[in-house]
Amino acid sequence: MLATKEKKSTPAIEHPSGDARFKLVDRALKRLHFQQDALIEVLHVAQESFGYLDEGLLIYVARQLKLPPSWVFGVATFYHFFSLEPKGEHQCIVCMGTACYVKGAGDIVACLEKEYNLKAGETTADGKFSLTEARCLGSCGLAPILILDNQTLGKETPASAAARVREALQGQAGKNGRGARPKVAADEEEFAEGETL
Ligand code: FES
Repeated sequence: MLATKEKKSTPAIEHPSGDARFKLVDRALKRLHFQQDALIEVLHVAQESFGYLDEGLLIYVARQLKLPPSWVFGVATFYHFFSLEPKGEHQCIVCMGTACYVKGAGDIVACLEKEYNLKAGETTADGKFSLTEARCLGSCGLAPILILDNQTLGKETPASAAARVREALQGQAGKNGRGARPKVAADEEEFAEGETL
């Protein structure tokens, strides 16, 4: 007589809150077979779904992947593209790696901090603009670099960076990086061909 096969326990894939956004995360978890080394991909989906990664969301991902929450928090805070707080409508990430720093990235940060009355890592009170610092973004040849609404801009100065941000906030550059960018067109081609983030 054949022994009855024990039912294999599968992780719970429904979040008890019923929040529909968790379904997107659950779908990614399922697609990636709950593999622990898929953590970064799952975090990307979670951030896209919720806008940022709050504590409850990170704990949920940790539980589903059976990883220590400290590990998941560590990964989420290490990478500049993850945010643990809600971000502004427009985001500017300034690279503060060595090459960018020696070429004046600190002055760009200081200029934007002054103009928008915030500190790097903060969002303006009206929720319109967030300023973030990052480690080397991998395109040191174009230092100093910043990423404004997902658009990479190289060889910036405090004045040009401030103008770019102003344009973005006024809607001229377009949210998420759509719009005219005549000044560094050549540099961007160089970036596209030779380097990646
Ligand atoms: S230091 Fe800024 S891109 Fe490398």
